[in-house]
Amino acid sequence: MEFQVADLTLAAYGREQIRLAEHEMPGLMALRERFGASKPLAGARIAGSLHMTVQTAVLIETLVALGAQVRWASCNIFSTQDEAAAAIVVGPDGTPENPAGVPVFAWKGESLVDYWACTQRILDWGEQRPNMILDDGGDATMLVHLGVEFAKAGAVPEAAESDSAEYRVLLDTLRASTLDWPSIAGSILGVTEETTTGVHRLYDMAKRGGLLFAAINVNDSVTKSKFDNRYGIRHSLIDGINRATDVLIGGKTAVVCGYGDVGKGCAQSLAGQGARVIVTEVDPICALQAVMDGFQVARLDDVVGTADIFITATGCLKVISAAQMSQMKHLAIVGNIGHFDNEIDMAGLEQVPGITKTPVKPQVDRWNFADGHSVIVLSEGRLLNLGNATGHPSFVMSTSFANQVLAQIELFTKTEAYPIGVYTLPKQLDEYVARLHLGALGVELTELSTEQAAYLGVEVEGPFKTELYRY
Ligand code: NAI
Repeated sequence: MEFQVADLTLAAYGREQIRLAEHEMPGLMALRERFGASKPLAGARIAGSLHMTVQTAVLIETLVALGAQVRWASCNIFSTQDEAAAAIVVGPDGTPENPAGVPVFAWKGESLVDYWACTQRILDWGEQRPNMILDDGGDATMLVHLGVEFAKAGAVPEAAESDSAEYRVLLDTLRASTLDWPSIAGSILGVTEETTTGVHRLYDMAKRGGLLFAAINVNDSVTKSKFDNRYGIRHSLIDGINRATDVLIGGKTAVVCGYGDVGKGCAQSLAGQGARVIVTEVDPICALQAVMDGFQVARLDDVVGTADIFITATGCLKVISAAQMSQMKHLAIVGNIGHFDNEIDMAGLEQVPGITKTPVKPQVDRWNFADGHSVIVLSEGRLLNLGNATGHPSFVMSTSFANQVLAQIELFTKTEAYPIGVYTLPKQLDEYVARLHLGALGVELTELSTEQAAYLGVEVEGPFKTELYRY
C-alpha cells in the first residue's frame, strides 16, 4: 500500500483517540449503522483533501464502511495529527509492520512542495481514476481544473510577478506532473466542499462557466455552517491561543476581523474568557449584529495600537497589513482562523526593513521590528485552531461530516439528478443530521399535532422551515 505519513508507530495512540472520537460522533456512527449493510458508496473512489485529524479519521472509516475506496491528504500544511494519519494507514486490523488501512499522504509541517505533491497523489489512482472528490477549501478541485486548463493550452504558464509562493509551487507541480488531467476530470462525478472559502471558489467557477463537474456545497447546510463555523470555532479558537501562548485572555482587548459565522464564534469565545472584544466588519448587517450582541465595532486602524489579540475570520485577503502589525503593542498576538494565509500580510511582514523572526516553538514566532518591539504570529498566518491546536472537537465535526457523507451518497448514487452546478443538500437531510445528534445530548423534541402542522403549513415530520429561513 502507498502512503506517506510521519511515523506509523504512532498508530496505537491514534487508534485510542479515534475510539474516543467515535463515542462523540453520533451522526457518523448512526450513518454506519444505517448504510453499513447496503454500502451505497461501493464503487466510489474518493480523493479526500481535508485536515487529517482524529475526527477526519472517523469520517474516512465511515466512508470505507459504506463501501468507498479512499485516498487522503490534508488541506493545510500544519493541520495533520500524525497519530491520526498513522492509525488510518495501519487500519483497525493492521500493524505498523503490515499496514492494512487507507493510503494517506499527510504529516504535520509539510513544505509547500510536499503539500501539492500530496494533493496530486490523492488524485493518482494508477490504472484507475478517482470518481469523487471530498474537498476542504477547494485545492484538490482547483488542481484538477488547472491541470485540464493547462493540458488544453499545451503548457503550464510561467508564474507572474504577483503570484503567491503557493501558486508558484502549484504551477511547478503541474509542470512536472505526468497525470492525464482531462481523463481524471472526465471520471469525476462530483465534489462535496466543506468550507466557505472553497464554496466561494465553486460558485465563481460555475459563474464563469469553468466548472467541470457537479458540486455539493456542504458548508451551507445549516447543520454545518451554523454549528462547525460557530460553535466549533468557539471551542477551538481559544484552544489554539492557549496552547500557543498560554496568555490570560481575561481582561485583554481582542479584535475580531469579520463577524460572519466564524467571527461570531470567535467573539463569543473571547468574551467568554473575559476579553473586551472589538469587531471590524465591511457588511452593515453583520456590523449591526455585532453591536447588538454588545461588541464595539471599529476600524482596525483606530484600535491597532491598543489591542492585545488580533484574529482574522473574513475569508478575505490583506485584512491585517504589515504596516498595521508594526503599530501594534509589544507582544501583541496575531492569528488567522480563516481558510487561507493571505488574511494577514505575511509576505509584506517579511519585507519590512530590519525585521527578524525568532521561533518560540513550532507554529509560534516572534517577529521583531527594528525599533525593538515584537508581535507574536501564530501558525505563520495559517488557520491557528488547526496549526496550534487540534481543530474543532468531535461532536461538532460529526454534524459537518454527517453532511459530507450524505452529500457523497447523493452525488454518487443520484449523479443524473445533479447536472454540472453547485447545490446544497435538501432541508430534510439537514434536519436529519440534526436529529442524529439530539439523543446524545438528552434532547426531547416536541412533536407537532396534525392540526398544528396544518396551521403552520408544514408536515408533521418536517421540513419545518422554508428555504428563506436563516436560523
Ligand atoms: P462568512 O462569509 O460568514 O463571514 C466572513 C465575514 O467577514 C463576512 O461577514 C464579511 O462581511 C466579513 N469581511 C470580509 N472582508 C472583510 C474585511 N476586509 N474586514 C472585515 N470584515 C470582512 O464566512 P465564515 O463562514 O465566517 O468563514 C470565514 C472564513 O473561515 C472562511 O475562510 C472559511 O473557509 C473559514 N473557516 C475556518 C474554519 C476553521 O476551523 N478555522 C471553520 C469554518 C470556516
